[in-house]
Amino acid sequence: MDLHSARARPTGVDELDRVLGGGLVPGAVVLLAGEPGVGKSTLLLEVAHRCAAAGRRALYVTGEESAGQVRLRAERTSAVHGELYLAAESDLAALLGHLDAVTPSLLVVDSVQTMACAEAEGSPGGVSQVRAVAAALITAAKERGVPVVLVGHVTKDGAVAGPRVLEHLVDVVLHFEGERASTLRLVRGVKNRFGPADEVGCFELRDDGIAGVADPSGLFLTPRETEVPGTAVTVVVEGKRALLAEVQALVAPSSLAQPRRAVSGLDSARVAMVLAVTERRGGVALTGSDVFTATVGGMRVAEPAADLAVALAVVSAVCDVALPPHTVAIGEVGLAGEVRRVTGVGRRLAEATRLGFTRALVPPECTDRIPDGMRVTEVPDLGAALRCIAGASSSRRAAGGAQQR
Ligand SMILES: Nc1ncnc2c1ncn2[C@@H]1O[C@H](COP(=O)(O)OP(=O)(O)OP(=O)(O)O)[C@@H](O)[C@H]1O
Ligand SMILES: [Mg+2]
Repeated sequence: MDLHSARARPTGVDELDRVLGGGLVPGAVVLLAGEPGVGKSTLLLEVAHRCAAAGRRALYVTGEESAGQVRLRAERTSAVHGELYLAAESDLAALLGHLDAVTPSLLVVDSVQTMACAEAEGSPGGVSQVRAVAAALITAAKERGVPVVLVGHVTKDGAVAGPRVLEHLVDVVLHFEGERASTLRLVRGVKNRFGPADEVGCFELRDDGIAGVADPSGLFLTPRETEVPGTAVTVVVEGKRALLAEVQALVAPSSLAQPRRAVSGLDSARVAMVLAVTERRGGVALTGSDVFTATVGGMRVAEPAADLAVALAVVSAVCDVALPPHTVAIGEVGLAGEVRRVTGVGRRLAEATRLGFTRALVPPECTDRIPDGMRVTEVPDLGAALRCIAGASSSRRAAGGAQQR
């Protein structure tokens, strides 16, 4: 393969191209892994359609649904095209036969778990079957110089043999994430042999198909006129992108011997650590209370930079006092209660400023450029952050009182 043909070709789905590092490389094998119903088939049908619409033939092979079902989806999402070939097939040899007959510029296999390889042992979806199917498709992709996208199923507990054993075989691994209750979907690069592996693409899953969301930052915030207790906004960095994220907390007296600690969208181990530090170093009593923490809009936040916002949301919930308006909190919280430096503070502040935030709590020794209109307070530890918030809240109350008089 010469250098030119190894170059990535845009799929036409911009948010996906961003994650892929430009597009699909001929001969590359991409694994798109996601939970049932998250929208894998919808996204890949759209990719196949864009490919066909650009004059390059696409073959979409499904072992999950009938060709009629896929056709119905294609009609619903306006993805019907003469150069988009659909095949309902679950036999690997037959699939390779279709590949030879159609000679597409893109092959989509939905899903790798439903394809059966006659030479391998076990039932479809089992480790040896999945391995054999993937190996054959990888060989076919490299021989023909055709990019192949494989759908891989993961279950909530991740127990099914499949994507995990595939991850080191394929060139690119993408995770498709989203909550059922929300229409927002994220495609996250996990591994990429041809480009950056830490990008995210944002999509909205609608009745008429899936659409890229080029400016997703505001989606993870609750639109509201006045601030409410128990919420804090932070800025996380996903790849090259800074995204605002809202953390919510609810703290209620518990009747249980072991109070509940429910976490949604955040890393539960980190939240447990932040709660312990908040209690020990911040002097906020949480023992005997149920604590619920969550993100807004189905966003998953695992970055330590969100620690400070988690702590502030919890304290705000306990005290039933809202944080000052238009404030973001950025920083990792250490076990000693110190607020630690995080990367990309300048980029995070720029994004917060763009979305109308005017105040930020950041770790000490911030050397990044501070955007115009942003007032930054460096907080060396959790105690300082709490004092800063309490000061702003009480002066706001006083100012509010003065106005009323
Ligand atoms: N007729 C329809 N009208 C509106 N939305 C639909 C319709 N059919 C499906 N959807 C939505 O599209 C979503 C994604 O479906 P899709 O089949 O692409 O997911 P998937 O990840 O391929 O699922 P699976 O793991 O079952 O293959 C569904 O969860 C559903 O909300
Ligand atoms: Mg599907």
